[in-house]
Amino acid sequence: MEATVAQGKSHGKIILMGEHAVVYGEPSIALPFPAVEMTATVRGTKGPILIDCSFYQGIAQQMPEVLDSLKTAIKTALSSLGRPYENLAIAIKSTIPPERGMGSSAAVAVAVTRAIYNYFQQELSQEKLLELVHVSEQVAHGNPSGLDAAMTSGNTPLYFRKGQPFEAFSLHMDAWLVVGDTGKTGQTREAVGSIGAKMDTSERSETLDRIRKLGELAEQAREALQKNQPLFLGKAMDKAHALLSELEVSSAELDALVESARTAGALGAKLTGGGRGGCMIALAESEADADRIQTALKEAGAVHTWIASLQQEVQA
Ligand code: PMV
Repeated sequence: MEATVAQGKSHGKIILMGEHAVVYGEPSIALPFPAVEMTATVRGTKGPILIDCSFYQGIAQQMPEVLDSLKTAIKTALSSLGRPYENLAIAIKSTIPPERGMGSSAAVAVAVTRAIYNYFQQELSQEKLLELVHVSEQVAHGNPSGLDAAMTSGNTPLYFRKGQPFEAFSLHMDAWLVVGDTGKTGQTREAVGSIGAKMDTSERSETLDRIRKLGELAEQAREALQKNQPLFLGKAMDKAHALLSELEVSSAELDALVESARTAGALGAKLTGGGRGGCMIALAESEADADRIQTALKEAGAVHTWIASLQQEVQA
């Protein structure tokens, strides 16, 4: 049985702490970010798969290479259901900016996979979803940790250490997160590579030291989140941004937004994700402060800004 039309949804993610250090086995903390979201709508049709998204409208087989991971997501979902790669029209609507460290490639795979399973009225467990999305994330990222897939499909903050299972944890903090988008695409692969390259130079020991300190800050951030200590979290964020700048994964645009957030009263601010473009985050003590920081970020050149409350009790 097939539905006439079916939808699948997903949302963005934010790395609060631990980006880059996580590559070297240190912990990281990521949050679901429902302020930006994606919806895939699937309808039946006759003939080749049709795609309608902001990057492309037309036959799926002729999609540009940048959409290879989307193609893989559709193929993977259909073949797992024993269905042919045809007879569907898939429309994707998204407010997740692409390549800004918000998990847009995983989110599209999550939304499309859910929509296809809904269309064929098949149950999809979270475990199966992550397994299917992993295939297209390999196309998008080479060696994905799985964090993006888990965050864009789930509702709980996660503590993550490479090679270990994700640990969901509850969050209740009297603070707001303000996110600013530089409008420049992030350069995650390049930034990860440049830190890797430092390991073969005389900078190795200071680089390892910075990575270790970033890991300690991620631990402190987790404690701050659990104990509702926004001031402590803000300080950890500032220190993390300084270390990430020293590791040369920030950019002039990110530094300018971070600085403007601090001047506008943020408790702390840092880049989020791979860096060298993409987004930054700032912590605000009140909603009024969050509004002020948002205005300051816009004046400093942020092309998009979002405010998210951290107050909502999320049960792990
Ligand atoms: O830019 P994003 O959101 O994909 O985050 C990358 C996070 C890194 O730690 C820099 C890389 C990684 O694979 O964990």
